[in-house]
Amino acid sequence: MTLASHSRSSPAPTAPAPSSRPATASPTSPSATGLLPLFATRWLTTEPTRQTIRSTLGGPLDGTLCDEMVLPASALVKVPDHLTLDEAATLPCAALTAWSSLVTLGNLRTGQTVLVLGTGGVSIFALQFAKALGARVIITSSDDAKLERARALGADVTINYRSEPQWSKPVRAATDGEGVDLVVEVGGAGTFEESVKSTRVGGIVSLIGVLAGAQKDLRLLPIVMNQIRVQGVLVGSREGFEEMNDAITKHQLRPVIDRTFAFEEAPEAFSLLAGQSHFGKVVVSHAR
Ligand SMILES: NC(=O)c1ccc[n+]([C@@H]2O[C@H](COP(=O)([O-])OP(=O)(O)OC[C@H]3O[C@@H](n4cnc5c(N)ncnc54)[C@H](OP(=O)(O)O)[C@@H]3O)[C@@H](O)[C@H]2O)c1
Repeated sequence: MTLASHSRSSPAPTAPAPSSRPATASPTSPSATGLLPLFATRWLTTEPTRQTIRSTLGGPLDGTLCDEMVLPASALVKVPDHLTLDEAATLPCAALTAWSSLVTLGNLRTGQTVLVLGTGGVSIFALQFAKALGARVIITSSDDAKLERARALGADVTINYRSEPQWSKPVRAATDGEGVDLVVEVGGAGTFEESVKSTRVGGIVSLIGVLAGAQKDLRLLPIVMNQIRVQGVLVGSREGFEEMNDAITKHQLRPVIDRTFAFEEAPEAFSLLAGQSHFGKVVVSHAR
């Protein structure tokens, strides 16, 4: 969640320790010179290998909740100029995962329909990117007030998954019975079958998270009979990060931050996340 980190177990550093908080930047004013770490520090181009995809911060390498970090220069990406450092801190994981899911692996096109599950960090980025790219967005949430906020961000159709446990029905109804082109699947076991039912023949279920469980018995035939592509997504590469940042700059997108905590308040930030009352991202900031 933070910008600065150290990495005792990281690959041999090849560049001087970068400052991710230059003297001219503040966490809440635009930064022209801030730097962001790659989540997978050795994954530079689109095709991952076993080695590059396992070079991830927060395990096996140390994470970013620390004061300083040393990284190879190739593992750093420039912050989009219009963003504050607090906003930029949301990009390396949640935003890039949403981008990879929709664009790098999903090949999303204008006019297609995306189903986004819930209103957490990945999902709200997916909503913002999909709308910027000219797609139609259907979003679910357990909370009508959050659905209202999603609508204000451009969501076209909103569904409360608590009052509509079989939410694939309203999704199909909203797509002339066909289903969506792509699902941003953050629920996992507890949502997967409804996601498959929500997907058009030949569509994509982009499997990202396991908020509703990681294991269950699965009916595989609907996936085969509807030629659905189940696409696992692990964050993304440096190439994807730079493409995403270009799009963020072009569309002047701003990450949605629910709340920002001081560094020493990090445990409270994790409690807020666990309670799932947030909308979008939660940030831990060094400079508060
Ligand atoms: N594969 C990757 O590369 C990658 C990258 C980042 C994150 N992840 C994983 O992806 C998941 C989402 O990450 P995140 O950062 O967006 O999490 P988050 O911000 O903690 O998301 C929490 C929100 O998810 C929604 N949710 C929970 N259970 C749900 C359900 N059964 N159906 C629909 N929505 C549900 C809720 O939205 P409402 O409150 O609106 O109901 C909740 O507020 C996590 O499992 C995370 O570990 C994976």
